[in-house]
Amino acid sequence: MNPVPIRAAIAGTGSYLPEKILTNDDLSKMVDTSDEWIYPRTGIRGRHIAAPGENTSDMAAEAGRRALAAAGAAPEDIDLLVMATISGDKPLPATACLVQEKLGLVNATAFDVLAACSGFLYALDVARQYVRSGAARKVLVVGAEKMSAITDWQDRTTCILFGDGAGAAVVQPAEGGSENGILATCTGTDGSLWPLLNIEAGGSALPASPETLAARRGFVRMDGHTIFKYAVRNMAGIAARAVKEAGLSTSDIDWIVPHQANMRIIQAVAKSMDAPMEKVVANIERTGNTTAASIPVALDEAVRDGRIRPGHNVLFVAFGAGLTWAAGVVRWGL
Ligand SMILES: CC(C)(COP(=O)(O)OP(=O)(O)OC[C@H]1O[C@@H](n2cnc3c(N)ncnc32)[C@H](O)[C@@H]1OP(=O)(O)O)[C@@H](O)C(=O)NCCC(=O)NCCS
Repeated sequence: MNPVPIRAAIAGTGSYLPEKILTNDDLSKMVDTSDEWIYPRTGIRGRHIAAPGENTSDMAAEAGRRALAAAGAAPEDIDLLVMATISGDKPLPATACLVQEKLGLVNATAFDVLAACSGFLYALDVARQYVRSGAARKVLVVGAEKMSAITDWQDRTTCILFGDGAGAAVVQPAEGGSENGILATCTGTDGSLWPLLNIEAGGSALPASPETLAARRGFVRMDGHTIFKYAVRNMAGIAARAVKEAGLSTSDIDWIVPHQANMRIIQAVAKSMDAPMEKVVANIERTGNTTAASIPVALDEAVRDGRIRPGHNVLFVAFGAGLTWAAGVVRWGL
């Protein structure tokens, strides 16, 4: 570790959403549900679904390509790729390796981080620590998911929530003398709560078999009601911690970019910070919950449409399976 840590900053972002949109009305033809039930409880009206043969690594590569272009970085400049996903192309190798090949990141070490909906912020934290210590100069951080492949389309309690997509950011040292950059990253885990949200089969404890397939045990299952309560409590707590560690107060935050799990969770987190909803970046209505992709997709949209501008203080906050939670504060710009 260098005596004076290097401040890391985000140099550019990119995102990708597949073309096909599945609306609540479409879903109501697949399971016993309706837009009238889904929208008021979740804030979701539609979600993007990957095309057949379009994999997590393809979406990740497209988002990564756009982030590299926004950052003005060449593929060979990247010395680390940290990829967050729970829906990687294969159990082996890491999806990061497939993305490294697709993007031609010939000088990059590549690995996956599995922290579900907190995954992008865990990966951002890893990237920040590499840059701070001088161990890496340019890191590509990607969150990408093909949730449609691990969702049970016969289970109305989960299939209404998830969508596919990918988002990415290039992390590198802030410019000399700049006040901008990543001011704080915080993470938390409570492994005792893993049963609340998990996929039972398909790992080494219970390999996929004709029996697990027949019992539909290879899909995401959750206790939505209990998860909701933990999500609000832990997101509010870690958001406050990150703002404090950044040396700011909540009124200094210009934008909150939360994990897009449920609009009511997002509203509760904003309320806990006394922040008006005008400060919240929310695209859940169009995207659903894209797990590790949710924050970088929302972030990229708000950067590209000019809401988030250099000098703005941006708070990220997430919560997911594990249970995991995380937050970060960035003063936007290099
Ligand atoms: C999933 C979620 C929207 C469900 O809302 P809820 O108010 O908790 O609803 P409940 O699960 O208590 O179900 C209420 C009723 O609606 C029914 N229901 C569940 N899903 C339904 C659907 N899609 N359509 C219609 N009815 C549905 C239930 O069967 C239940 O009926 P019952 O009372 O007759 O048993 C909500 O719990 C949630 O968003 N939780 C957080 C989940 C999450 O974000 N997970 C990812 C974390 S990163």
